[in-house]
Amino acid sequence: MWLFAVSVPLLPALLMVSRRCRVKVSSLCRRALNWALGLVQGRACVRSTHAFVFSNCTHGKVDSVLQTFDLYAETRPSLSIGPETGEALDDVVRRVRPSRALELGTHCGYSSVRLLRLLPPAGRLITVELDPLAAELGEEIILVAGFKHSQVLTSPSAEAIPALRSRPGPDQRGGGGFELVLMDHDPRQYLPDLLALERDELLCRSGCSVLLVNRRRRAEDLGEVLDHIRARAGRCCSIRTELPFMVEIFYQKENTETEGRSVGGTSEVGMKLFRLGRARCG
Ligand SMILES: *[C@@H]1O[C@H](CO)[C@@H](O)[C@H](O)[C@H]1NC(C)=O
Repeated sequence: MWLFAVSVPLLPALLMVSRRCRVKVSSLCRRALNWALGLVQGRACVRSTHAFVFSNCTHGKVDSVLQTFDLYAETRPSLSIGPETGEALDDVVRRVRPSRALELGTHCGYSSVRLLRLLPPAGRLITVELDPLAAELGEEIILVAGFKHSQVLTSPSAEAIPALRSRPGPDQRGGGGFELVLMDHDPRQYLPDLLALERDELLCRSGCSVLLVNRRRRAEDLGEVLDHIRARAGRCCSIRTELPFMVEIFYQKENTETEGRSVGGTSEVGMKLFRLGRARCG
């Protein structure tokens, strides 16, 4: 709400300047207003989704929490990823069976709850949310669903990622790092965050699935990050599944070349193993 309070007194000034450079300012103004509106609408949406789920679900029952979210989304605009994307997410989680998962973009806590219910008892989820209100309400929903050991970090992903490096992991199996990362925040952050996760060695070297949610279902939203992956395909990351609403990137960083040489001895066997290693990675 404070955004309105701030942007309204600025309007006359903007209009005055606009006489000189009308086109530039009007587009700038429209963008600023859309951004402010988006934020206000997003917050209203988080509040009403939270109120609906909180008062209508059976507390402590995961399935009831998810069903209540879906019921809400049937008739109202919602920030939850919904059952279709949710089921695709479940399939990946069941296949990857992560014990450490990271979510960027908590929103109302819907996908956090979906993820948590499929983690092993010792599994951990860290979820990062930029908006303090969404983080608080999302965390409450996670608790309502009966999960007490997840962590909600309120900060921009670009600040949360370097801070995660210094956090000691619960277990260092597979060289540490997350086995599953769900990106559902700002698609413009997907590539820089992926690179930061890689740089800070937060992606499990023996295999990590990075899921990119494409809420607007617009190919150009993921264009940059997918071009980057395609350019490096076969070396350490590749696109595993590509759906209109979600893309799965598989990341793996094992030194397959050394593995081939040490096991194979002769170059032919070595090459075969090397190729196998690459195929497994790609
Ligand atoms: C709970 O569900 C009922 C029936 O769908 C709905 O009318 C009511 O507004 C919901 N509660 C809240 C707080 O949203």
